[in-house]
Amino acid sequence: MSIESYHSYLTEESAANLRAEADNILAHDPEEKLTWWYDLSKPPSNIIENYIMKSAQQHGLDGYLGAEWWIRSHDSINSQWYFHVDGDVDRFRETGEYLAAPFCSVTYLCDGGQPTVVCDQHHDWLKTNDIYITGNADWTLWSYPKMGKHICWGLPYFHGVVANMGHIPEGDRRVTLMFNLWNSRPFEPACVEYNLPYNIKDGEVFLYPMKDTDLEFREPHGHFTAYLEGVETAIQFHGYHEPGDSFLVTQIRPQHLSEDQYFPIQ
Ligand SMILES: [Fe+2]
Repeated sequence: MSIESYHSYLTEESAANLRAEADNILAHDPEEKLTWWYDLSKPPSNIIENYIMKSAQQHGLDGYLGAEWWIRSHDSINSQWYFHVDGDVDRFRETGEYLAAPFCSVTYLCDGGQPTVVCDQHHDWLKTNDIYITGNADWTLWSYPKMGKHICWGLPYFHGVVANMGHIPEGDRRVTLMFNLWNSRPFEPACVEYNLPYNIKDGEVFLYPMKDTDLEFREPHGHFTAYLEGVETAIQFHGYHEPGDSFLVTQIRPQHLSEDQYFPIQ
């Protein structure tokens, strides 16, 4: 399984320092559309690049050309992000060549919020019959946010943020830092040199990786419908969690469950 979860990845202070920078960046980037490029052959010029360099080293992947990174926020639990694969969208638009990111990661800079859901179904752009979804559909990974938690995967898995599950503490929001590693720089205008009128602070982060070595498989309580490249897909879910939980849900619907959707309330 080409996916990892670290229930804790950063020291508390490092996570807090990254969150402070994330808040400053978000204050200057209300649209949250761009991603930024960090060339891994250059020494880090701020605390975010320092984190990316250290994380790439921790994963044994600092030989990659560089990292595309971005910050995203959700103010309410009703907010979602559709299922997609991270790819070089502007290269595809310009040349028709589709490249998926060879390494994707999410680092949580908040203590609550809706989960990231990753499916074991991925793009296969070499197919010629117009159906680009492949994979076993055996499991989904559910990752609930916790300050300083980190997940990553190395196949072009579909993933999204599912609304109305989890809880955002009063006055807070869901904030995540993503970085993907590439051996070919993603095209502009989606991915550009850092260009906000805010200077990200210098600084160093300290990793303290605590990996979830044995991800538990949980039984589904029901399912919801997602669209993977327009293909209707039933995603099985388990309705209960502790903050910061990561677990797998089997995609095989138990026989006692009806085909109706059913959402248990925690
Ligand atoms: Fe993504």
